[in-house]
Amino acid sequence: MTTNTRAQQTINTDRLMASLEELGAIGAYHDEDADVMGVRRLALSPEDAEGRRLVRKWFEEAGLTASTDAIGNTYADRMGLDPDLSPVMSGSHIDSVPTGGKFDGALGVLGALEVIRTLNDHDITTRRPLTIAFFTDEEGCRFGTDMLGSAVATGRIPLEQAYALTDADGKSVKDELAAIGFLGDEPVGQRRPAAFIECHVEQGPSLIHEGFDLGAVTGVQGISWRKLTITGASAHAGATPMSFRKDPGLAAAKINCRIHEMCASGEYGPDMRATMGVITPEPGMINVIPGRVTATVDLRNPDDDAMRRAEADLDAYQQEIAEQLQVTIDSQQTARTPAVAFDEAVIAAVEAAARVQGLKCRRILAGAGHDAQEWSTVCKTAMIFTPGLHDGISHNPRELSTPKHCADAVNTLLSMILALSDEAGNA
Ligand code: GLV
Ligand code: MN
Ligand code: MN
Repeated sequence: MTTNTRAQQTINTDRLMASLEELGAIGAYHDEDADVMGVRRLALSPEDAEGRRLVRKWFEEAGLTASTDAIGNTYADRMGLDPDLSPVMSGSHIDSVPTGGKFDGALGVLGALEVIRTLNDHDITTRRPLTIAFFTDEEGCRFGTDMLGSAVATGRIPLEQAYALTDADGKSVKDELAAIGFLGDEPVGQRRPAAFIECHVEQGPSLIHEGFDLGAVTGVQGISWRKLTITGASAHAGATPMSFRKDPGLAAAKINCRIHEMCASGEYGPDMRATMGVITPEPGMINVIPGRVTATVDLRNPDDDAMRRAEADLDAYQQEIAEQLQVTIDSQQTARTPAVAFDEAVIAAVEAAARVQGLKCRRILAGAGHDAQEWSTVCKTAMIFTPGLHDGISHNPRELSTPKHCADAVNTLLSMILALSDEAGNA
């Protein structure tokens, strides 16, 4: 694949940043700890709905034909010179974690929209049709499973299984899609693009620390999520001798220590990461031994074999702790994706496009999960990373990329979309 040389159009950076600001104002809140404005746009919440309506309106104002599928993914199509060819697709998500920033996901959706707006400005029709999109519940924070919309669209998760997922209040994905008006009528599983390319903020420190302008993403590491419900016996904190206790809080603490020790041991490779992001004791009182603790474990590893060993060893440790502390541990796998390698030719084309623009680019493995990993199972795929300030902090209101960094990434996205959409083929 060669990068497009027919034109040197560049995107409108002010327009891109203004759109990021406008979307970022939906679900905005003042974060006390960081003392900055953050974004809270949980999947299928009223804020997500408002963001969806705004972006869908922008899609339509750009002359695109928008449609929503049965899991709420929203696609917008632009005709190509050869409408029989399968399209090039670009997109990401607009849901956020409860304490998120303006860039995670939004840059990929609004970057793709900015590419379309730029093509419109220059009256360019590509050979292949183009599709831009936002996908439902990439974050997985509310319903427990990440990349939900793209996983359903590409066939990894059955629609009915996704519909049945519930949030902490027992509300189902299907009911909430209907409630926000995004239970669409397009059947899932019909979209099979020729290529998928997603632009995203790195969400880690590598690019900014090493002075790179851009990352050509080689793939995504494996992810394994589990939810633990640990049940013991609630009792008086002062009157219950230590030997009489069945304390699920202690069990959660020991498991949390264990996953960190597993990372430090090097036994599961040098890049294992582990987080216990939820630890919720009930009743949650200073002077009551909790009767139950709900906790989550998030494991990441670029090596699938090492991940499997870590999962098995953690299973065994949970059993050991349950016996030792006389608690029961119900362990449910809530999400699991293997490591993904993106398409070598598309990665190389990202590097070439960066070179043409004089950008310093390095190859990088994604630490976070992304919609692109789901699309990589149905078509050739790659991603473009932009550096983030403040050590690349993300899933945090301080998440920030400069206009220059965003523009570099979206100009590279523009080159890539032009190159991929010029490619010949029967499909
Ligand atoms: C999604 O952002 C994830 O990697 O958890
Ligand atoms: Mn994201
Ligand atoms: Mn995220």
